[in-house]
Amino acid sequence: MSEKHINTKVITYPDNNGMKEGAELIKKGALVAFPTETVYGLGANALLSDAAEKVYRAKGRPSDNPLIIHLAEPSDAEKYCHVTPEFLRLAKAFMPGPLTVVMKKKDIIPSTVTGGLDTVAVRIPSHIAARELISLAGVPIAAPSANLSGRPSTTSADHVISDMLGRIDMIIDGGDCDIGLESTIVSVCGKNKLKMLRPGRITLEMLEKEGFEVELDKAVTEKLSEGEKPAAPGMKYRHYAPGAPVSLVCGSDEKRIAFLSRFAEDRSVALVCFDEDEKIKNLPNAYIIGSKNDPDGQAHRLFALLRSFDDKEEIKQIYAPLPEKKGIGLAIFNRMLKASGYTVIEV
Ligand code: TXA
Ligand code: MG
Repeated sequence: MSEKHINTKVITYPDNNGMKEGAELIKKGALVAFPTETVYGLGANALLSDAAEKVYRAKGRPSDNPLIIHLAEPSDAEKYCHVTPEFLRLAKAFMPGPLTVVMKKKDIIPSTVTGGLDTVAVRIPSHIAARELISLAGVPIAAPSANLSGRPSTTSADHVISDMLGRIDMIIDGGDCDIGLESTIVSVCGKNKLKMLRPGRITLEMLEKEGFEVELDKAVTEKLSEGEKPAAPGMKYRHYAPGAPVSLVCGSDEKRIAFLSRFAEDRSVALVCFDEDEKIKNLPNAYIIGSKNDPDGQAHRLFALLRSFDDKEEIKQIYAPLPEKKGIGLAIFNRMLKASGYTVIEV
């Protein structure tokens, strides 16, 4: 991992001169973290191989894990990849927004950006600061989530500062990210057919409603066995994990609460619970993720909550509920499962 020796400038959006400076930094190959509607991105000029290498170093990320390129408009995509009719339909329905589409890349995108793959992941973010930065820079911006590799993604400028200060050139503070989970990733695998490589705010149900047939990559919900490869290389890495082990508690509300109650008052155990868990929620070691009926709110809080456990040394074990697999719940399920290293306790 690179050392922390860079003088990182932090600006607060809106800031016209700051944004121009950020765009210049991107253009010349420096690293700028910026807000998006999903999570913060660690941006670099996607046309420069060296800049992509800097991203991998700053994050401590394996270089076989490809980066998403961020564009200002869907119509820019044809410069960088072989656009399919499915992409055009997806763009009409969901872009700009939290959806990433994998397509065959064109030679202009260096293979460093795509981890050696002949495909490239394309996303058009809706966040106003992200759009402004991309437009001002005039180049596609390659950006993974702006966290150290293995840690939960960053959903506030404070998270980015804590992981990236001294490692990158600029951080654009645009407040908290709206959605809080990374974009949905799909690849086009046939006429009208999509494969979902990573679930997010654009749900399987929403894609089906647009008339697509959607297959879920196995890596989204299951641990792959030795030698099996996920369609998104990043899905194979341990991810989203706080320092203390996370176990997911699976069972009826009644049984889950009975199980958690055994650890009442034990501050070495963190109990993640819902607003509705009356018996648990006021305990000193309870951490409320939101209402059971508000999965968007849960998604919004999840990474901040996982990160907050690392500030509390006394916590040695974390128990969290297993989310329902529908709608955005599938994305919460996927991130929680990975945070737990697939540790599920049936109660
Ligand atoms: O919401 C998001 O997508 C955020 C913001 C910053 O836009 N970005 C993000 O990037 O989550 P990152 O690098 O943390 O995750 C990208 C994922 C990885 O799992 C990677 O393996 C996969 O996308 N990916 C990238 N290019 C790919 C490709 N050509 N084929 C398959 N998977 C790809
Ligand atoms: Mg990431």
